[in-house]
Amino acid sequence: ELQPVILSGGAGTRLWPLSRELYPKQLIPLLGEKSLLQLTIVRLRGASWPATVQPALIIANQEHRFMIAEQCRQLQESARIILEPCGRNTAPAATVAALAVDKPAETLLLILPADHVVKNVPAFHQAIATAIPIASEGQVVMFGIVPDCPHTGYGYLKVDSNDGKPQPIAEFVEKPDVKRAEAFLQQGGYYWNSGMFLVRADVWLKAVETLQPAMLNAAKEALNSGKQDLDFTRLDEAAFAASPSDSIDYAVMEHLAELGKTTRGIMVPMDADWSDLGAWPSIAEQFPADEHNNVSKGDVMLEASENCLAWSESRLLALVGVKDIIAVATPDAVLVAHKDQAQSVKQIVERLKGSN
Ligand code: GDD
Ligand code: MG
Repeated sequence: ELQPVILSGGAGTRLWPLSRELYPKQLIPLLGEKSLLQLTIVRLRGASWPATVQPALIIANQEHRFMIAEQCRQLQESARIILEPCGRNTAPAATVAALAVDKPAETLLLILPADHVVKNVPAFHQAIATAIPIASEGQVVMFGIVPDCPHTGYGYLKVDSNDGKPQPIAEFVEKPDVKRAEAFLQQGGYYWNSGMFLVRADVWLKAVETLQPAMLNAAKEALNSGKQDLDFTRLDEAAFAASPSDSIDYAVMEHLAELGKTTRGIMVPMDADWSDLGAWPSIAEQFPADEHNNVSKGDVMLEASENCLAWSESRLLALVGVKDIIAVATPDAVLVAHKDQAQSVKQIVERLKGSN
């Protein structure tokens, strides 16, 4: 059995002011009619995998429950929704998902972030088909993307050969600094970690038991003491809050080698025209640009400007004589940022949080 697990608990702070705590990027129809979460669900359709595909399990912040349920209803998809009373990052979320399946030794978890664009869906399906027998044998599969810049927001997978075939992972480095990332690119033999994983639920639980025992206990307790509320499974607040907060990558993937040879990860390449919609420049890349490489959305006017993103949700937004600027206007906030500093938008959100 294949159990898709969609991680939908992030706040998307680098996409402020469009992405908000109560209306985060994965629930916004950023690219068209469907939200990123809906696109993630729809992307699973039409695959021919040698496994029964269960309805998706969505794990998300409890504040978003009605929006998520409504978005599933629009797609006419039944999904199981598990609610986190507070964010503890992705490792506890994946662990709760692994605990929630009926037959862990027979269930492959397909862990999917909810903030990706994948343009080549058949290639996405094909990579998963390749990974299924490998994960069934007890390996942790990470889907690798050929890197095209020294991005510091991604994990890096070191493999022995770049021949496009599944490879044992020699090293996993989460979010290196720019110097290291540049060295990786120069050296070759590195893939980006797409953040999508395929792993048998029992293999995941065993890894967490060894590497993060407190996390496993907290996740068990949170699920066991949790409550069913309408169609939602609510995790117990005190138990879940007691979990260490850490990502799949830092808490587990960087340490797989410590578990010994049989559980070291395998990288399956995914050449599916993939992007992570992390910050405004990657949003801009999703839209056609004008002859000066500007992207505009909404009620926007541009004059003598170049390489800008102008996005208005409400009023007229005009840019004159500027270069490499991101300007986003919503009814209650306006962002003006240099493209090179797009990652720092989250600092504003941090400050806003601190002030209330
Ligand atoms: N349920 C839940 N709870 N989901 C969460 C939480 C949480 O506390 N925090 C984040 N998520 C969700 C986000 O909504 C997103 O869909 C996904 O988990 C990944 O989290 P990000 O915060 O976007 O991770 P990242 O982009 O910095 O890094 C990860 O993805 C990169 C590729 O996009 C890592 O896996 C990197 O190694 C990888 O390269
Ligand atoms: Mg991300």
